[in-house]
Amino acid sequence: MIKFVVDNKEIEVKKGTNLLKACLDNQIYIPNLCYMETLGTPPASCRLCFVEIEGQDRPVTSCNTEALNGMAVKTDTPSVRQLQRTAFELLMSIHDVDCAHCPANKKCALQQIARFLKIGLKPRRLPHTLKDPDIYEDHPFLDYHLNRCVLCGKCIHVCRTQNGQPLMAFAKRGFSTLISFFGKESLADLPCETCLACVRICPVSAITLKDNQDQTAKD
Ligand code: SF4
Ligand code: SF4
Ligand code: FES
Repeated sequence: MIKFVVDNKEIEVKKGTNLLKACLDNQIYIPNLCYMETLGTPPASCRLCFVEIEGQDRPVTSCNTEALNGMAVKTDTPSVRQLQRTAFELLMSIHDVDCAHCPANKKCALQQIARFLKIGLKPRRLPHTLKDPDIYEDHPFLDYHLNRCVLCGKCIHVCRTQNGQPLMAFAKRGFSTLISFFGKESLADLPCETCLACVRICPVSAITLKDNQDQTAKD
């Protein structure tokens, strides 16, 4: 075990634990979207989970930084908040904010993070750019809402865990990045109808069951 201090609170965790998990396990919230405990190497792609470590020049992402004995960590400095707000605005600049018609409403990770950072959901400093078309409907069981997706990658990871290999992957780059679904020769080979791991894990309901599927399957 190692001991270190976060926001003046001493915490003790197993050696090898990353700072984000250490904090979350000790009721210290740090905004995060792409971290999953079961992912061996965190992608650190959402750039939300910044913290400051005493003695280091600049904030670091906590999901891929190991907690070390004697560290002094701060989660709520002005520079941490500034980085988090900028990362959040960037995410929201390609997000279609339409909570009233969204199945994620009230349980949405973006709403939680916006509340925590005391920031609106709609970006104010960046232009708002959406993809067109905004729904991919070619999958036999699922719909993919491109302008809801925050590209956290959780769906790919759970699909791989559940099915041995992922049936989806990131495609394209930059602003055009999206989730692409792999086809199978026969639709009957697709495990999606009974799996739905991606539907359950998605923090923003960007993957949903088609309207003609049994919506209760996801609850
Ligand atoms: S994903 Fe969240 S922020 Fe986006 S429209 Fe749905 S409820 Fe609103
Ligand atoms: S579909 Fe959902 S889980 Fe998958 S990358 Fe997009 S936001 Fe993340
Ligand atoms: S949770 Fe650390 S960068 Fe996304």
